[in-house]
Amino acid sequence: MYLIDAIIVLWGAFDLSIIKSFQSQLIDYLRLACYLNNISNAIVNLTFMAGIMTQIAAQFALYSFSTHMSTVQNMTETKHHIWLDQGIWSKCSNPEVHTVARNIVDRIAAVDYASKGMTSTRAGNYLFNAVLIVIAFFVDILGGNVEKMTAVPSIPLSNGQKLPLLGLGTWLASDEKLLNAAVRAALDAGYRYIDTAELYKNEHVIGAVVKEYIDAGKFKREDIYITTKLPLYGHHNAAHYIEESLKKLQTDYIDLYLIHTPIPLEINDEKTGIKFVNGEPIPLTSIPLIETWKVLEKYYNEGKLKAIGVSNFNEEQLQDLYDKATVKPHNIQVECHILFPQKPLFALCKKLGVTLTAYAPIGSPGRGEAQKGAGFVEGDPMSHPLVKRLAEKYGKTPAQILIRQLIQRGISTIPKSTNPDRVRENFNVLDFELTADELAEFDKIPGDKRLFLFDFGKAHPWHPFKADLKKVLGYEQPA
Ligand SMILES: NC(=O)c1ccc[n+]([C@@H]2O[C@H](COP(=O)([O-])OP(=O)(O)OC[C@H]3O[C@@H](n4cnc5c(N)ncnc54)[C@H](OP(=O)(O)O)[C@@H]3O)[C@@H](O)[C@H]2O)c1
Repeated sequence: MYLIDAIIVLWGAFDLSIIKSFQSQLIDYLRLACYLNNISNAIVNLTFMAGIMTQIAAQFALYSFSTHMSTVQNMTETKHHIWLDQGIWSKCSNPEVHTVARNIVDRIAAVDYASKGMTSTRAGNYLFNAVLIVIAFFVDILGGNVEKMTAVPSIPLSNGQKLPLLGLGTWLASDEKLLNAAVRAALDAGYRYIDTAELYKNEHVIGAVVKEYIDAGKFKREDIYITTKLPLYGHHNAAHYIEESLKKLQTDYIDLYLIHTPIPLEINDEKTGIKFVNGEPIPLTSIPLIETWKVLEKYYNEGKLKAIGVSNFNEEQLQDLYDKATVKPHNIQVECHILFPQKPLFALCKKLGVTLTAYAPIGSPGRGEAQKGAGFVEGDPMSHPLVKRLAEKYGKTPAQILIRQLIQRGISTIPKSTNPDRVRENFNVLDFELTADELAEFDKIPGDKRLFLFDFGKAHPWHPFKADLKKVLGYEQPA
């Protein structure tokens, strides 16, 4: 990357008018490189790149000739688009490469097209830019930067599928306009994994944006990973909630479906959420967790759920379900950050072959909106001195250090933001690496600060965190 930076800086120093054009082409090139996660991919895509360059050269020749003959003005936009649609990029099987290639060519070829025509000097500049892109491309491949740059790494599930290590969280993202913009910012930045839940009441927003991107050819359904969850008031009719999620997400299948918590509760009369009587929720204990799991297994076997798992289960609950299940859980989603690194659970997961997804990776600073009163536990991983020191060292933000640390532990994580700048910031964690010593320093932080107590369900006999309820709230369940 340093060489590319140097080229940009040197080029910028000349302050030529085409710098903007070059920069935007370079950005497109970098976006293209996002999709290259190994050298063989790079070579395949390089072939397309070479094709594009050939087209650019041909266009350069065409424009020079046309300018010379004063015929540019006579060429119609229709012809131009036919030419684009028949170009090599139209044969490219990867729709993202296709789109990026078209963007590059559009910018290079279509500029000033309908106006006065292109001077050969300008066309020469474009060609020179194109050559720079190719050089940068080779520099990245030879320097091994392609892999490091932006490809989101993944971990294998026990069924052979892959779980991305970084995605977008969407809890407390109920403002449709904000979420819509955030999902767009995420997809444009390169996120291909979104976490939602029936409980968040936002599946329809995510489904609509994802469908729009798929319809526009920006990526295919199989390029995007969606997780959603069975609400704690949905255990009486899990099949209904799976079908509803499929509809709201506008998809034929869900990549990963989780039982949101092991504390099933009665549903309210409006069928929209938890039923409260005298301010207390009513535990639903007539349906054992394994019965709910069997519904997930059925949908898994039908191919409507590509992977299934649980959330907020403790070690005993995970082991118990694992022992009873026909389809073993593929994933568990739990609170996990430097103040609560989930070491015993993660060790069990490794033993069982269950992947772990960390929620609240940066400490869920907005959680107070949902956690009121005694259930709110103070704790801010972003202000930890070690995090601040490493942020300073790497020129990154505390949030980026925390996200990176989880990824390097092999834990998938889903930081939430509805602020487009922070959405991009949280994704920009793939170009640096914490050292083994630095990772070991995190191990010295006391890891006992659970921020999510689920105190509203404290009386439920299956509450997963009874010891923390007692330790933090002094609450002990009646025998
Ligand atoms: N399974 C479960 O029971 C469960 C529970 C909780 C969460 N989750 C999932 O996990 C996801 C992540 O957890 P979370 O949302 O609780 O916590 P989080 O991702 O640790 O933190 C999100 C909060 O941090 C802010 N934020 C985001 N990026 C930031 C940055 N770079 N710098 C400073 N502040 C930043 C966000 O505000 P802005 O939006 O304003 O940026 C938001 O308030 C959830 O969204 C949800 O998808 C699952």
